[in-house]
Amino acid sequence: MKQAIFQKLVVLMTLLFPASLVLAEFQRGEHGMVSSRSDIASEVGKNILEQGGNAVDAAVAVGFALAVAYPAAGNIGGGGFMVLRTANGEVYTQDAREKAPLSSNRDMFLDTNGEFDRQLSRNSLLASGVPGSVAGLLDALERFGTMSREQVIAPAILLAEEGVVLNEDLANQFQRNISAFEQYPASIEKFSNNGIAYKAGDLWQQLALAETLKLISANGRDGFYKGPVADMLVATMQANEGLITHEDLENYEPVWREPIHGTYRGYDIWSMPAPSSGGVMLVQMLNMLEPYNLEEYGLGSAETVHLMVEAERRAYADRAEHLGDPDFYDVPSTMLTSKQYAQLRFTNFDPALASLSDDIGAGSWPQESTQTTHYSIIDAEGNTVAVTTTLNASYGNKFVVPGAGFLLNNEMDDFSSKPNTANGFGLLGGVANKIQPSKRMLSSMSPTIITQGDAVFLVTGSPGGSTIITTVLQVVVNAIDHNLNIENAVSSPRFHHQWQPNIIRYETDAITDQALIRLRAMGHQGLSISRFSLGDANSIMMINGRLEGVSDPRNVGGTAGF
Ligand code: GLY
Repeated sequence: MKQAIFQKLVVLMTLLFPASLVLAEFQRGEHGMVSSRSDIASEVGKNILEQGGNAVDAAVAVGFALAVAYPAAGNIGGGGFMVLRTANGEVYTQDAREKAPLSSNRDMFLDTNGEFDRQLSRNSLLASGVPGSVAGLLDALERFGTMSREQVIAPAILLAEEGVVLNEDLANQFQRNISAFEQYPASIEKFSNNGIAYKAGDLWQQLALAETLKLISANGRDGFYKGPVADMLVATMQANEGLITHEDLENYEPVWREPIHGTYRGYDIWSMPAPSSGGVMLVQMLNMLEPYNLEEYGLGSAETVHLMVEAERRAYADRAEHLGDPDFYDVPSTMLTSKQYAQLRFTNFDPALASLSDDIGAGSWPQESTQTTHYSIIDAEGNTVAVTTTLNASYGNKFVVPGAGFLLNNEMDDFSSKPNTANGFGLLGGVANKIQPSKRMLSSMSPTIITQGDAVFLVTGSPGGSTIITTVLQVVVNAIDHNLNIENAVSSPRFHHQWQPNIIRYETDAITDQALIRLRAMGHQGLSISRFSLGDANSIMMINGRLEGVSDPRNVGGTAGF
């Protein structure tokens, strides 16, 4: 009881006096650290750790808090992945990815001429996969947590009920999306003040979401996958030509999978297996890089960028061919992550010349910034959690379930609806990732933990659709090869190549002017400054037992340590 009152007071202070929060992008600590896209959610996680909760308790609390305080990607209507390393060194990965509804089919996003209907696969209720976040978070809590469900969901309920004071970031996001929200009554009701755009400083309450969270708190997964919330979700589907049924919801189960493990210059890499492509590709690319001396080449040099782009080109080509849900497709993860395969794949690497990406399909860059989100947590015992969670696009399909107050995902667009036709991230795919009932769509989310000997070295991950994996790769290479501290490893400007389209996108200053000239001379095409920042890697590094955390300075966020 005392604990509940304390928790309420702390959260209320956070709500009423946001300016009093001393939350930085960068923090040092010894006992625990949380880094996320929301300063409020990071504070919630830190409070849980300070009350004696472990990293999983904090991760679950942060997950629910993000669903309230960072609605673009924090969610209960989407899905995600968790990589967890316990203090005794065991590593687990949880797949809480959305699933295709039972009545989905391979051609559901093709029109009568057999053309891919992008609108349908992104901006309709057909775009929604069966949500996995609630089942995933609660299952993780049951297996590895120490606190009760009620304790870890309480801060999120309070945030939804009492309201959040909107910062400029959130107010601007709501304003930018207002015409999309206007399509759906429950969406415009949630994200505007009776149709008028919210401003920074306004108090934003989410009473319907608070009721949904209370049902989850009281009844566990049944509070979401059965009962009134499920009824509202299914009624919404039926009224809007969506496919998710009660059977889909009741059948949903997260899956604990064998982690992807690789090594790189004496470090151990632990990351997410399929249906994410992230872990496989990260290890594959690191294997390709390992024989080369990146430290000597230098950050942003032509040699470094050329080498990394050629690794990316080959890994993304493999992604399109080989990666999909392992419950439906035989994913050759062992082959793809072996050092021998990387060597073989790199035999045609020319240190002086760009390779040509095969000229198939019509890839295109994403038109809008994508809002998956990643958070990293370490507790005093050394339990470590990396979670990446998503609605796919920013605010998913923009559809709030009437009465239940949460946004639906548009994750079905991560399937390959038509061979060699790009999805929202310009990614190509084929049979391995075709739509099948109950299948999980391929992801790029790459929550990753890196250890050295018995100690955790780095916890990282990122949003950014197809750019997630190259973002994580660069944070790892910056930390290990270029010996950068966590602030610089994360803030250093990034570049990205994904095989198709055959172009290199880069952030200002990611590639030196001299290197740009040399890369063009080597045959690299379409070198262009990215319209969007690449990634948002909220990360923690452990140096001699001390924690250093950073929320990626590309975006508003918060790191809370003690
Ligand atoms: N929805 C983005 C991803 O899972 O890769």
